Amino acid sequence: MSNPKILVFAGSARAESLNKKLAAAGAAAVREAGGEATLIDLNDYPAPIYHGDDEDAHGVPENILALKKLIAGHDGLMIATPEYNGFVPPLLVNTFSWVSRPSKDGGPEDVLKSKHVALMAASPGRLGGVRVIPRLRDCLCELGCIPVQGFVTVPSAGSAFADDGSLANEAGQKGLDALAARLITATS
Ligand SMILES: Cc1cc2nc3c(=O)[nH]c(=O)nc-3n(C[C@H](O)[C@H](O)[C@H](O)COP(=O)(O)O)c2cc1C
Repeated sequence: MSNPKILVFAGSARAESLNKKLAAAGAAAVREAGGEATLIDLNDYPAPIYHGDDEDAHGVPENILALKKLIAGHDGLMIATPEYNGFVPPLLVNTFSWVSRPSKDGGPEDVLKSKHVALMAASPGRLGGVRVIPRLRDCLCELGCIPVQGFVTVPSAGSAFADDGSLANEAGQKGLDALAARLITATS
């Protein structure tokens, strides 16, 4: 049997994104747990803010169709999300709004249905973005995803990463490894 394929990304497009760093650490943990990780940057899948008239006129953007195919070709997702005012960031809301729309080109549909997902959040704040986790989990369940047990949050994330990209805090890295292992078990 082949290794589970996990698509890993951050809900931030920012060049210096702390969540991109966490996504990279997550991808490394997935590989360590025996999975095949594909780390992507949502900067490479830009889409206009969802608008029904735009969709009627132009359909689902090509970048989103490509992302839907990519999601369909993976067994699970690992997402590192920022928290904006306790809420899911607009980049993720917009991306998942478009991804949930039918392709009209015979492309894969319902790509998030039964997809196992592991959630993480990083923040410079002391709570590590913990409030966004249940909110994003709820949204993803609505789309058919199956969240794996638990989550990882990284508080004070500006100083949380070691030079090799892992979490400097030993317990934090253990938690990340355990989350990745649960995702691999769920997708095996
Ligand atoms: C509009 C806005 C709202 C924010 N709200 C929160 C918040 O509720 N909790 C939090 O921990 N950080 C909050 N922050 C700070 C972000 O955690 C911080 O900008 C973080 O670096 C964003 O993630 P990134 O580094 O991956 O881009 C907010 C930032 C912005 C721009």
